[in-house]
Amino acid sequence: MRFLITGARGQVGRALTQEARSRGHEVSALGREELDLEKPEAIRQAVSELSPDWVLNCAAATKVDHCEEARDWAMTLNAKAPGWLAEACAEAGAGLLHWSTDFVFDGRGEEPWREDAPKNPLSCYGETKALGEEAVLGVGLPRTLILRTQWVYGPKGRNFPAAILARARSGQGLKVVDDQTGRPSYSLDLAVGALDLLEGGATGIYHLAGGTVATWYQFAGTLLQLAGLQDVPMEAVGTEAFPLPAERPKYSVLALDKVEAFLGRSMPPVERGLKDWLERESSEKG
Ligand SMILES: NC(=O)c1ccc[n+]([C@@H]2O[C@H](COP(=O)([O-])OP(=O)(O)OC[C@H]3O[C@@H](n4cnc5c(N)ncnc54)[C@H](OP(=O)(O)O)[C@@H]3O)[C@@H](O)[C@H]2O)c1
Repeated sequence: MRFLITGARGQVGRALTQEARSRGHEVSALGREELDLEKPEAIRQAVSELSPDWVLNCAAATKVDHCEEARDWAMTLNAKAPGWLAEACAEAGAGLLHWSTDFVFDGRGEEPWREDAPKNPLSCYGETKALGEEAVLGVGLPRTLILRTQWVYGPKGRNFPAAILARARSGQGLKVVDDQTGRPSYSLDLAVGALDLLEGGATGIYHLAGGTVATWYQFAGTLLQLAGLQDVPMEAVGTEAFPLPAERPKYSVLALDKVEAFLGRSMPPVERGLKDWLERESSEKG
């Protein structure tokens, strides 16, 4: 199949590009420089010229705290651009895979969030991503796949394990939040899952995330253990220890029943992703 990938230099975009090429798909991997999603006319032109079977939209305004002060930017990229992409796909006869987030939920609960749970975003990021889902669904494409994920880490990019490891190696002690719970999700596992869903004919909304439920503190503990840094002092703290502009959902665990039933397997545990992540990290450092 022919794919057009937007945001192709982000964590998920890179992983999907790599996985799709390894499966023999023809991929146009466009970063912001090649396709700026703030420009509706550029979107139409790219989709029409490349005539893909599927557009995989991995671009977004992902700096959650910055979204609070840059609402227009977040609205354009997260809420409007997905709709523009869906309209361009409708004209070109393409399908659209679009990534969304656990931040569409408020995290006030104790049960994993199912696909049809009521949305109630707490932040501008979550609100604009929820509007983006609606914009995509509103176009009514015959082939739409919306994948909500969370706590993404990949071999490259700004992410939690990279920040924890850098601090631990610098010999500084760590304070890590222990009252937010989610699913750490390895970008390469997300790419495999996403393409299995797409190739298998899945449509609609699916939750796709890692197989392990953890707090940030537990996630960091597993990382330090696997990296041989278990002696670095680490303190469990509450969310209030790090005041941030955007409110985070507390119990933000996405339910995986639907996706695992479709795929016929469980999503991989965090240890597997972190081992692979650490191997790639150390081979890059030489
Ligand atoms: N990261 C997470 O923990 C997480 C959690 C839940 C859901 N998601 C969703 O998963 C998807 C992929 O996220 P990610 O983790 O891969 O984020 P990421 O690493 O921040 O990648 C996002 C990409 O979007 C690009 N982008 C920004 N503005 C753009 C524009 N105007 N035109 C075109 N591209 C633009 C960025 O390019 P620049 O680098 O040039 O800005 C970046 O490469 C997003 O929809 C996100 O909302 C992510």
